[in-house]
Amino acid sequence: MSQPVRILSRSELPPEGEAREAVCGARTLCIANANGEVHAVDNVCPHRGGPLGQGIVENGNIVCPWHAWAFNLKSGAAEHSPLARIRVYPVHVEGDDVLVEID
Ligand code: FES
Repeated sequence: MSQPVRILSRSELPPEGEAREAVCGARTLCIANANGEVHAVDNVCPHRGGPLGQGIVENGNIVCPWHAWAFNLKSGAAEHSPLARIRVYPVHVEGDDVLVEID
């Protein structure tokens, strides 16, 4: 059972259309703001390990800064192949806290 963990405060969220990296315990996640909706996904790109939190947000995808693989922020699926995917974590914004469900 996953417990919601505080990862950021609301004021630390990336602006609309941007992403950032955020450390949560032993993990670093990519936090992205797509159309005002906050998403939390793996930060490590499954291609060659690029930092997705340093990528750009485009059409509901996070685009890796290294070789431009694009992953849907809701499903985690890569645009070019259903076999490549990243993990998506449920996010809740409660008051000033941004919580992520991590197991
Ligand atoms: S490392 Fe992400 S696309 Fe290559």
